[in-house]
Amino acid sequence: MSSVAVSFDEVVKAFGPVRVLHGVSFDLAPGHVVGLLGENGAGKSTLMKILSGYEAPTSGHVVIDGAPARFDGPRAAEARGIVMIHQEFALAEDLTIAQNVFLGHELQRGWWLDDRAMRAETARVLGLVGLDAAPDTPVRDLIVAEKQLVEIAKALQRDARVLVMDEPTATLTPGETERLFALIAQLKADGVTVVYISHKLDEIERITDDVVVMRDGRFVAREPTSALTRRQMANLMVGRELSDLYPDKDPAPRAAPLLRVRGLTVPGWARDVDFDVAPGEILGFAGLVGAGRTEMFEGLLGLRPHSVGVLELDGRPLRIRNPRDAARQGLTYLSEDRKGKGLHVRFGLAENLTLMALRRYATPWLDPSAERAALKAAVDEFGLRTGSLDIPASSLSGGNQQKLALAKVLHPDPRVVVLDEPTRGVDVGAKRDIYFLIQRLARAGKGVVVISSELVELIGICHRIVVMRAGAPQATLSADQLTEEALIAHATGIH
Ligand SMILES: Nc1ncnc2c1ncn2[C@@H]1O[C@H](COP(=O)(O)OP(=O)(O)OP(=O)(O)O)[C@@H](O)[C@H]1O
Ligand SMILES: [Mg+2]
Repeated sequence: MSSVAVSFDEVVKAFGPVRVLHGVSFDLAPGHVVGLLGENGAGKSTLMKILSGYEAPTSGHVVIDGAPARFDGPRAAEARGIVMIHQEFALAEDLTIAQNVFLGHELQRGWWLDDRAMRAETARVLGLVGLDAAPDTPVRDLIVAEKQLVEIAKALQRDARVLVMDEPTATLTPGETERLFALIAQLKADGVTVVYISHKLDEIERITDDVVVMRDGRFVAREPTSALTRRQMANLMVGRELSDLYPDKDPAPRAAPLLRVRGLTVPGWARDVDFDVAPGEILGFAGLVGAGRTEMFEGLLGLRPHSVGVLELDGRPLRIRNPRDAARQGLTYLSEDRKGKGLHVRFGLAENLTLMALRRYATPWLDPSAERAALKAAVDEFGLRTGSLDIPASSLSGGNQQKLALAKVLHPDPRVVVLDEPTRGVDVGAKRDIYFLIQRLARAGKGVVVISSELVELIGICHRIVVMRAGAPQATLSADQLTEEALIAHATGIH
């Protein structure tokens, strides 16, 4: 099969009165891997949804093989070989993996669904992405990374000629990421055009041939990847010279612990874990996916069954049944699963922000003007970019949803905050803002726990890092011991 030539011709998109794409024009080189860069809210996902039939342009066209195309839905785009892997998963939780892979494309034998053929084909594409799960597994039972792999497998089953990947590795392990890169190389060799959206510039550098940069709904540059350094890419995205990503570290605090945890056990995930967080301390948790970090904190917050020997905040015992309970006592948690456990995506922005601090807005009835003022303040403080304040959280761009989730957990003004993957999906400029924000929280005397799969980020901001493997801490490294090699050695156990 030959490559498909795609270009955008003056594409405009408005949602109600708000314009988010202002006439975007560029070509996708056929058979290339094209990196699409831009800040949170720049319009990357929206443009790609137009390409793949999920949204219609307000004006302008997608041009395919020289002729303007109009898709009335994703099926029409798929018929032309254009398939998108979404940033926010679009899987049906109640269906099995195989049912999701074939949703709307069910194979039939005569009058009947050909379940056996669909299961076999599903097993094949799961093999390609390296997901070791039975095709009959309900999607609801999968963890976030596994759902991402199902999304990719589903797209591969469609035999795309143009494949859009919207931040596919945000939730993957390094091993899964490597396998995905090998797949991309194979697709490219087969002549498939791949559009790869990511905020991880090292990935962009490694696997793309060209980069296209968007800013504020406009095209700003296209260059061969090899012609740009990562810093130049970042500067093109934000439209100015970026300064250092990490703040200078403050010395480690020596105060008595603010949060004391002894003998925390979350069955199946963590055994008998002890740790302390001091006021003003930034404590990191490193480890491979599956090391039990997220599940351990979900247990601590009452989201999973758990037992704990000692749990104290400022010398007082804590009894936590659920996250709201914890928030009342001064401990909040940013979930890595922002769409599931983090935000109520169908609710508005203000409702999301104030959910954990509702009492403050009840006088005794809810005071919408106070809620709205709080939202405006959060928009400024967190650099939340949105054309309108009156949209559901689901209409924010991915990175801006992350900023809202962060604003939400800081809104009750906690003593200790646990941040699970706080910079997932956010652009370089916003990452930097979050690192400086974390430092400000610590300087204000809060205890900050950061769980992250990005080792450089943990090394950049933490005073100490606990490395976990198979549900147990392997080592706690202090500032002078923090190197990627040391962290990897403890995380993998090849010490
Ligand atoms: N359905 C919608 N209703 C209103 N506004 C929307 C809708 N969908 C997207 N937007 C807005 O369009 C703008 C562009 O969003 P888009 O998701 O394309 O950004 P992005 O470049 O993909 O960002 P990110 O890197 O954060 O994923 C944002 O301001 C977003 O809030
Ligand atoms: Mg996006």
